[in-house]
Amino acid sequence: MVYVPGDRVGDYSLVRRLGQGGMGVVFEARGPDGARVVLKIPHFQLLEEPGARDRYHRELEVTRLLDHPNVQRVVATGVVARGDMPYLALEWIDGSLLRDHLYDGSPVGVDEAVGIAIQVCDALDYCHTRGVVHRDLKPDNLMVGRDGRVRLIDFGASLLEGATRITTSSNSPALGTPDYMSPEQVQGHRGDARSDIYSHGAMVYEMLTGHPPYRGDTALAVMAQHVQSSPSPMRDRVRGIPRALEAVTFKAMRRDPATRYQTMLAFRTDLQNFKVLDADAIWREAPGEGPGRMPVTLGMRLPALRSMAPWIGVGVVAAIIGFAVGAMGLR
Ligand SMILES: Nc1ncnc2c1ncn2[C@@H]1O[C@H](COP(=O)(O)OP(=O)(O)O)[C@@H](O)[C@H]1O
Ligand SMILES: [Mg+2]
Repeated sequence: MVYVPGDRVGDYSLVRRLGQGGMGVVFEARGPDGARVVLKIPHFQLLEEPGARDRYHRELEVTRLLDHPNVQRVVATGVVARGDMPYLALEWIDGSLLRDHLYDGSPVGVDEAVGIAIQVCDALDYCHTRGVVHRDLKPDNLMVGRDGRVRLIDFGASLLEGATRITTSSNSPALGTPDYMSPEQVQGHRGDARSDIYSHGAMVYEMLTGHPPYRGDTALAVMAQHVQSSPSPMRDRVRGIPRALEAVTFKAMRRDPATRYQTMLAFRTDLQNFKVLDADAIWREAPGEGPGRMPVTLGMRLPALRSMAPWIGVGVVAAIIGFAVGAMGLR
C-alpha cells in the first residue's frame, strides 16, 4: 500500500509528501482540529522486519522523551492500520531546512553561524544529558523557523544510552551524506555524544567556509578522509574568520574523541566566548592530533608568508641582480 495525499492515518489526513527516507514516508497532514502537523509513517514492507520495527519504536520512544525549545516536539502518536507500527505526529515548523536556509555555497557571517551553532549545542546538550545521541546530525536534519529558532529533527538514527543495541548495518537507514560523519562512525562504531560533537564541528566548518570539511567523488572517498586527513585551514578558504573560532571548530573535529570537547556544553561555552580565547593554547592542547595540526603549521605560516610576499619578491630580484653583477664581475 502506498500513501497518497487525501488518505487518512489515524486522526490525520495527508496533505502532501515532504520526504521519503529508507524507513518511511514523511507527510504534511492536518489534524482533527485542522492543525498542520508532520506525520512520519513507516514503510509497510518493514512491518515484517523486527529490526525495523524496533527502530521505529525507538525513534518514537526517544522523541517523546524530549521537550526542549530547540528540539522538534511530538504532537501525538498512534499505530498504523496494519500491524503495530507506530506513526509519529510532530509539530509543524514554519521555516526551512538549515541546508536550504544557509548553504547556497557561500559562507555565512560569523555572528549568524555562531548563533545557529549555539542553538544546536543547546538542543544536543539537552539530548545528551538525557542519554540520547542523535547520530545523524546534518543540515538536512535541522530546521530554522521564521522566528530564527533552530530545531533539531529526525531522531531516526538516534540511540538511547543503556538501551539494547538495535542498530546493525542491516537495519541502519540508507547511508546519506558522509560529510558530517565522525571517524569512529565511519569505522563502524555506534558513536556517542562526542560523535555528535564532531558532526556539529563539521557543520560549523561548513557554515563558516561554505564547504564541508572534505570533498570527494564518492562517499567512500569522503569517509576515508574523516579517518585519515585534516580539513584545510578555514582561514585559507575565507579571510576574516577569527583564529580562535577556527581553533574551536577544529577542536570539535579532532579525530580522537578523547581530545575533542567532551560535552556539548563545553563546545557551546567556547563558541560563545571565542573572542577571548587564546587560539594557540587550543592548538597546543593536541599537537599530535590530525585536524588540529594543519592550521598550526599552515594556518599560522601562510598568512605570515603572504604578508612577507612583497619582501620575498624584492629579495629574489635583489639576489638575481646581485648574481648577475657578480657573474659579470667574474668575467
Ligand atoms: N516539523 C517539520 N516541519 C516542517 N517540515 C518538516 C518537519 N519535519 C520534517 N519536515 C520535512 O520533512 C523532511 C523529512 O523529514 P525527516 O524527519 O528528516 O525524515 P527522513 O530524513 O527520515 O525522511 C524534512 O527534510 C523536511 O523537509
Ligand atoms: Mg532527515
